[in-house]
Amino acid sequence: MSDMAPKILAEIAEWPDRLEASCRGTRFDVGLVRVLSSCDSTQDVARMTGIGAVVTTGRQTAGRGRLGRVWIDDEGAGIAMSLAVPMQDSATISPASGIAVLEAIRAAVPPSIRPTIGLKFPNDVVESISGAKIAGILVEASEGVAVIGIGVNLHRRSWPPGIHARSIEELAPEATLRRIDLLEVLPPRISEAIDLSPSEIVDRFSEAHAPTGCRVEVESGDRRIIGRLESLSPLKHLEVTDSDDVRHRIPAASSRILSWDPSSR
Ligand code: BTN
Repeated sequence: MSDMAPKILAEIAEWPDRLEASCRGTRFDVGLVRVLSSCDSTQDVARMTGIGAVVTTGRQTAGRGRLGRVWIDDEGAGIAMSLAVPMQDSATISPASGIAVLEAIRAAVPPSIRPTIGLKFPNDVVESISGAKIAGILVEASEGVAVIGIGVNLHRRSWPPGIHARSIEELAPEATLRRIDLLEVLPPRISEAIDLSPSEIVDRFSEAHAPTGCRVEVESGDRRIIGRLESLSPLKHLEVTDSDDVRHRIPAASSRILSWDPSSR
């Protein structure tokens, strides 16, 4: 048992009741809430548990990120949650989850800070001024089930070299949030966001997209385009104007923003 274990066990004691209460009336199943003191990845537990599952842990030791990356938060400074939904929602699940997590984080911080927190396509939550990452979402879809994995940087910690990240505690020291305060709002927020119409998802996502108006480098297939991001529709395309004033319309599904410069807005 590590030195952290007794502290984490005491912290998570109230989590099952709080999460079960927050799942009532949502698309998630109160009987499929799982709270683990420690696990490799909540994604695997949610997939095994099945549709309707809500899984979290005091400490995640082998978290996965998008594009085969790792999500390192094995000291319990942040939150890790995975939720399993039917895959038929898959086109809109990713941007809808981004909206849900953004709104949960904005609601948890003082109003003055809310406008400084935005989204970055496909579904990171970022601090708009510095570009630092506050939360990441990974959607793993197969065999009729989509598992939505959410990692949020909550408490202060040190970041591995090369990681440009920030915690909610650093952004809003006065917020004094505990992990369960944020965890318990995610199932209802995700449940509601998945039910939004595609046009509402596009509007809300585009509105909150922090790199819009900034200089970006976008990868699309084997092309790299550098220029000003004019607009982004998460279900359709990105529009970028390059230095020759040529406007490129790039399909969202096959592109990603490699970098952006928040100071160029
Ligand atoms: C990313 O930004 O690349 C996505 C990070 C997703 C991390 C979360 S933490 C909960 C869930 N379990 C995992 O192994 N990954 C996701």
